[in-house]
Amino acid sequence: MSQKTYRVIQWATGTVGKVSLRHFIENPAIELVGVLVTNPEKVGKDAGELVGLPPTGVLATNDVEAIIAQDADCVMFAPMLQDIDMVCRLLRSGKNVVSTIGPFFTTDFSQAEVERLEAACQEGGTSFHGCGIHPGFIGDIMPITLTRLMDRIDRIQVFEIADKLVSPSVYIDFMGFGLTPEELRARPNCMEYAMPTFGESMAMVLAGLGKEVENLTEKHEIALARNDIPYPGGVIRAGTVAGQHWEWTMWTEGKPLLLYHLYYVMGDDMEPNWNLGQSRHRIVFEGNPQFEMTLTASPDAEGKHPFLGIIWTALLGATAVPQVCDAEPGVVTHFELGVVRPQGLVR
Ligand SMILES: NC(=O)c1ccc[n+]([C@@H]2O[C@H](COP(=O)([O-])OP(=O)(O)OC[C@H]3O[C@@H](n4cnc5c(N)ncnc54)[C@H](OP(=O)(O)O)[C@@H]3O)[C@@H](O)[C@H]2O)c1
Repeated sequence: MSQKTYRVIQWATGTVGKVSLRHFIENPAIELVGVLVTNPEKVGKDAGELVGLPPTGVLATNDVEAIIAQDADCVMFAPMLQDIDMVCRLLRSGKNVVSTIGPFFTTDFSQAEVERLEAACQEGGTSFHGCGIHPGFIGDIMPITLTRLMDRIDRIQVFEIADKLVSPSVYIDFMGFGLTPEELRARPNCMEYAMPTFGESMAMVLAGLGKEVENLTEKHEIALARNDIPYPGGVIRAGTVAGQHWEWTMWTEGKPLLLYHLYYVMGDDMEPNWNLGQSRHRIVFEGNPQFEMTLTASPDAEGKHPFLGIIWTALLGATAVPQVCDAEPGVVTHFELGVVRPQGLVR
């Protein structure tokens, strides 16, 4: 791997984008050369100021054409909404792209997007990599890697447990916390695209194990607040939605081989109480031998374990930048990327 410095543009500075922006400013293997923002209050501000660091000389812009025209090795793409047209333009303009929105792997759901990205990569001589903690890491490359410790696999279960009271999130309103069950059910399903998107990670595991995707099924449970739950953005009233459990099951050869559980909760004062404990990611391997892996933040001053999913999403993208830049042109999944060798972390 070359020792060059990689010139990076940060696209969007939300909760994920701020973490990668800070990383790029501080990592000696990276040179920050641009920041694209949409928020007018951020335009013209120094990148350092946006993340509480000294000035860098790089000013945030909302001028998309200037960013497209800018010379850079890679764009870290982390806006709220997917924009495949824009990602293709960036790829055709000669910039590699790492995106936290995916696509993560080719499935029936993502195939058309992957094909467009592949064509743009070939035109621009560039590479695209979709990654994040989940989907993109804890439910795909992690279990695929750890199945090498197994003789026989019966079932794999992946848990994402996020206590949004300990780690406040932009997704509380979006996911319908604080609504009555009736209001939640009357709303369009905010996770409509989550199942097929997480399904890309699931399909990657099956591909890694040489199995065909047969079916993907969904269950959704809610838990209601027993008492009012205050949080920094408001109050979850007693009797309204304070916890949600999404369960997706991927079937192969008539069996449920891979289950994903997403538990998003506002503390633990709710009915039913799932007794989840602290925020963490956990993978349970059933078969021979049986084992499990838990990834969690070290406890903070109050002994609580913050949810690191957002930070890990940004860092998984940021640490992949050098290898994505050095990859052969095309869409690179974990299979093509191989073992990532992060640069500039030891400092
Ligand atoms: N794979 C994973 O594990 C994983 C985990 C978490 C998040 N994600 C994905 O990563 C992306 C970023 O997440 P986040 O938590 O940082 O989101 P966020 O806090 O909502 O921030 C997204 C940023 O997008 C920009 N933005 C706002 N409105 C926009 C619009 N209408 N069109 C385009 N951009 C707009 C803003 O950037 P400025 O403030 O700079 O103007 C905003 O701060 C999301 O797409 C999310 O789904 C993936």
